[in-house]
Amino acid sequence: MKIAVVGGTGLCDWPDMQWLGKQGVQTRFGEPSAELHTGMLNGVEFVFLPRHGGAHSIAPHRINYRANIAALQQVGVTHILAVNAVGGLTEALGPGAMAVPAQIVDYSWGRECSFADGEAGPLDHVDFSEPYSAPLRQQLLASAAALGYWCFDGGVYACTQGPRLETAAEIRRLQADGCHLVGMTAMPEAVLARELGIDYASLCLVVNWGAGMTREPITMDEIGRVLSSGMSRVCHLLGHTIGSLAQTSAPVT
Ligand code: HPA
Repeated sequence: MKIAVVGGTGLCDWPDMQWLGKQGVQTRFGEPSAELHTGMLNGVEFVFLPRHGGAHSIAPHRINYRANIAALQQVGVTHILAVNAVGGLTEALGPGAMAVPAQIVDYSWGRECSFADGEAGPLDHVDFSEPYSAPLRQQLLASAAALGYWCFDGGVYACTQGPRLETAAEIRRLQADGCHLVGMTAMPEAVLARELGIDYASLCLVVNWGAGMTREPITMDEIGRVLSSGMSRVCHLLGHTIGSLAQTSAPVT
């Protein structure tokens, strides 16, 4: 088992982490968003990749998702924990809440979204009924419970194109479609991992209410405040999850 964390907005670098190394990787799709970082959490080595680049400069629709996932596969990654900052669309999911979504509706467009499209690789139609790995989801939730963190189990992640935020009418449409969280980066990341047989789950941090759900406009200042108070919980939870996953997969001697 080799675990990677793909960090999103608010997790372009890992607070207080002494990296063991950073490795530039070339793939046939080009370069990933950043060098692959190697770190150690709870005695377990893991790989870290900030999907927006180390300086948070790559917009969601411009991320080279194929290069990112191919690079992780090239270094032997078998499990990906994705971190996504999202908007909340239901009452239980206000700013500061964490969630491990169970489903995705993809509203993004024009992104290179497959390794199996007949050009990048032989045409295939992967099963994606359950877009996230059940064991990885369960471990994230078990770790949250062990640490005493409230974390929503389930929900539907709406992946919009960005980089702009939604209109109020678009948010009402997402709610009517049964979505609970809105972000810009779950897709095609999740399906690319599935195509390569990599286990993948997402830990979402809600950083704002969906557009139009409150009277106040959504500001990056406010999002930044929620991110900085929430990311330490996210990192702690990821550390516990990585430690537990490595333990459950360790051969019994
Ligand atoms: N919409 C889309 N993506 C987001 C949001 C949002 O409100 N908040 C954080 N990422």
